[in-house]
Amino acid sequence: MSGMIKKAIFPAAGLGTRFLPATKASPKEMMPIVDKPMIQYGVEEALACNIQEFIIITGKHKRSIEDHFDSTFELEDKLRKSGKKELLEEINRLNKFSIAYIRQGKALGLGHAILCAKPFVKDEPFAVILSDDIIGSEDTLLKDMIKLYKEVKSPVLALQKVPRSEIHRYGVIDGLKESKGVYKIRDLIEKPLAKDAPSDLAIIGRYILTPDIFDILEKLKPGKGREIQLTDAIRKLLKKRPVYGFLFEGKRYDAGDKLGYLKATVDLALKNPELSSKFRSYILNISKSLKET
Ligand code: UTP
Repeated sequence: MSGMIKKAIFPAAGLGTRFLPATKASPKEMMPIVDKPMIQYGVEEALACNIQEFIIITGKHKRSIEDHFDSTFELEDKLRKSGKKELLEEINRLNKFSIAYIRQGKALGLGHAILCAKPFVKDEPFAVILSDDIIGSEDTLLKDMIKLYKEVKSPVLALQKVPRSEIHRYGVIDGLKESKGVYKIRDLIEKPLAKDAPSDLAIIGRYILTPDIFDILEKLKPGKGREIQLTDAIRKLLKKRPVYGFLFEGKRYDAGDKLGYLKATVDLALKNPELSSKFRSYILNISKSLKET
């Protein structure tokens, strides 16, 4: 098994129920944050780690994801003719790497979505990116996880401290701190009640996994919510090999949730060179008027 992480899986076949009705017939992953669809942030994060092969797990109503990462002759021609060189380069950047699309016929859970990628991953370690968890481009979470993977040669899960009031929405670890930001995981619980949570360390949407997870996923029965849960598979994996957690201390937005999506939009617009100054004045004006009411 090589130590390099060359492939990333993007599970994108979920039903996006938290964002209905927007997600009834169009993919959550294509909802724009400022001027890019959510999934593009994840793809750029992987490209920054030299990952060049992508496997996107799609489902019904997800075809626009494929179109987004494909070339569009008509649009390119128009941009070329009107001299919009920068925009042309920007859209061409997106069709330079290899992407495989796999349909997950039924949204049977995150674990099942990952299992669908088995024929493409074969015998290599790989990254999993949940594109509705947006990580700021100034942060190096995935890079740091890959670095840790190279040291420990074992799966690495991204962790973040979350308030007790939100813990029931996450997979939560029981772990032993090994060094700054690195935990050896003892156990995991999917979506525990706050009183049952073994810690405040939640698993967030970045994973480095090894191909032995596929054998476990193949045999796994549905768990919470009658879904094939990735956390249940990792729990079984723990009996066979060490699994590590890497604590992320930067900013993450859960853009699959309406409030998280709004926060991501505002913060990323404030950082966008084209918009920041005008948007900042607008926000300052709103907050002034909010204070007055
Ligand atoms: P979520 O838990 O966010 O589910 O899935 P969801 O369906 O996208 O959204 P809600 O919770 O109903 O609003 C985490 C990730 O796993 C993918 C989703 O697309 C998302 O990226 N997923 C989930 C699949 O690809 N297939 C599944 O069967 C379930």
